[in-house]
Amino acid sequence: MNATMSLEKTKHYPVMLNQILSIISPQHGGTFIDCTFGGGGYSQAILKFSGTKVVAIDRDKLTQKYANTLKKKFPKRFNFFQEKFSNLNKVVEKQTNPKAIIFDLGLSSFQLVDKERGFSFDSNNFLNMEMGINEYSAYDVVNTLDKNYLARAIKVLGEEKDGKIIANKIDKYRSKKPITNSKELAFIIKSAKKNYKNYKRNPATKTFQAIRILVNQELTELISGLIEATKLLANGGMLIVVSFHSLEDKIVKNFFNLYSNLKRNPSRYLPIKENELDLFKLISKKPLVADKKEINSNIRSRSAKLRYAIRNNNSFFYPSEFKSKFINYLKLESKEI
Ligand SMILES: C[S@@+](CC[C@H](N)C(=O)[O-])C[C@H]1O[C@@H](n2cnc3c(N)ncnc32)[C@H](O)[C@@H]1O
Repeated sequence: MNATMSLEKTKHYPVMLNQILSIISPQHGGTFIDCTFGGGGYSQAILKFSGTKVVAIDRDKLTQKYANTLKKKFPKRFNFFQEKFSNLNKVVEKQTNPKAIIFDLGLSSFQLVDKERGFSFDSNNFLNMEMGINEYSAYDVVNTLDKNYLARAIKVLGEEKDGKIIANKIDKYRSKKPITNSKELAFIIKSAKKNYKNYKRNPATKTFQAIRILVNQELTELISGLIEATKLLANGGMLIVVSFHSLEDKIVKNFFNLYSNLKRNPSRYLPIKENELDLFKLISKKPLVADKKEINSNIRSRSAKLRYAIRNNNSFFYPSEFKSKFINYLKLESKEI
């Protein structure tokens, strides 16, 4: 089977779609911003309701063909831009007044299974891992990044305790020849993980996550995306984020805690303290998760966490406070290589 055929056969499940539709109620119309268009699952489901409009973005140019299909079907109600969500305000006009801005983070199933993208462990193709609009590839990261820096990136962005050992192995290998594909990289990582036979997941999972995050500056993008969305939302607009790993969820949770009406209380016996930075009404501090039925049909939804909040009309927004909490990630991802 060639790559194109397997891509065409990939089944795509928009994660937690039912919960999202019940939160945003598209049956009552409105304009919605889909910041992570992917295969267009959310956009299409929203556009089925006649009173809606969707502005979608995705950094991956390969999503353009799914966008073209929707544009043909809904020429007046759908628009697509190949752009990163850190540039949301460059493509969406301030007066759009979106009813909701939605982020469904990470990779789509199309990106994951496409061997040419280099995200899977068994690809013989060029070590790429770029989602789109990138400055460097995974090849650059593993072959040119300083060894100590690489160790720290693997440890922090992959939450991989063996970051140093893995970086040493990579360094030793690349001193003889460059690492050119994912299969080779996965093999090197495996050789650094002594007890890998006891692992439930591929021993390279965490390191691949770290490299992918670094290549795409994913945490910087998330931090900027939340800030841009907050600027764009007017009173009553919703911000909805579906995340898939603990680093992403930590950022989203912190953002909502920092800028919402429900600030963490020192004691549960004290009345809830008002937050002076309050920009959102948070319905619940706990995330929504996929139900058993969805998890059974789409294993990827098992780790999904959906958090959302409703914007108020407060305009005093100090994103520097939020950024400073995650300065380590921002610095790590901004390294010139
Ligand atoms: C999980 S998929 C979204 C799937 C989509 N909700 C659907 O139902 O088809 C995530 C998508 O977000 C895109 N993406 C990730 N980070 C992005 C960023 N910073 N800016 C724009 N798009 C991004 C990826 O290229 C990918 O296509």
